[in-house]
Amino acid sequence: MTHILGLSGSLRQNSFNTGLLRAAEKQMPEGTTMEVHTIAGIPLYNADEEAAHGLPPAVVALKDAIARADGLLLATPEYNNGIPGVFKNAIDWMSRPADDIGRVFGNRPVAVIGASPGGFGTLLAQDAWLSVLRTLGTRPWFEGRLLVSRASGLFDAEGRLSDEATRERIGKFMTGFAAFAGLQG
Ligand code: FNR
Repeated sequence: MTHILGLSGSLRQNSFNTGLLRAAEKQMPEGTTMEVHTIAGIPLYNADEEAAHGLPPAVVALKDAIARADGLLLATPEYNNGIPGVFKNAIDWMSRPADDIGRVFGNRPVAVIGASPGGFGTLLAQDAWLSVLRTLGTRPWFEGRLLVSRASGLFDAEGRLSDEATRERIGKFMTGFAAFAGLQG
């Protein structure tokens, strides 16, 4: 059984990106499972806090959940043509302490998807993740690409995907990524 952890980089209740992961959860191929996590509860990184108290419980739990997964799927919003600070902050916390990076991220199959109301579907945010994923020693999957643009017309008011064509694209993406993640395990 191949297990994928989907991590949304949005804290918004009706987030398009969390909705994208919820839709992916329903499109997983046979023999695979997926759990959706968010970055809720992760405070701003502060080295003094880390030195005094160690990692916050939400960070420890998410690191362990990623370490148990065969693959990590990041659903990234795009802010000002880059990675939203809240999402990068969560990954920065999870890269601590540095000697634990290998357990959590090392050689881990990772893919990036994203949705935005604009016309480029998080293209620049997805590209901005590449240097972070390289630094963490992950094994990125590049064969599929999922840029969901004009998202306002594809999701309902509660952030549920309502567009059949996008659902099919997600299914195809998940089939490819899950196969890649399963092969590495
Ligand atoms: C945005 N948004 C945005 N969208 C985009 O495609 N490119 C961009 O550069 C930006 N920049 C940006 C900056 C800031 C500060 C905000 C708050 C928003 C719009 C963004 O895509 C939109 O708010 C999405 O709804 C965010 O994703 P979630 O929360 O729906 O998952």
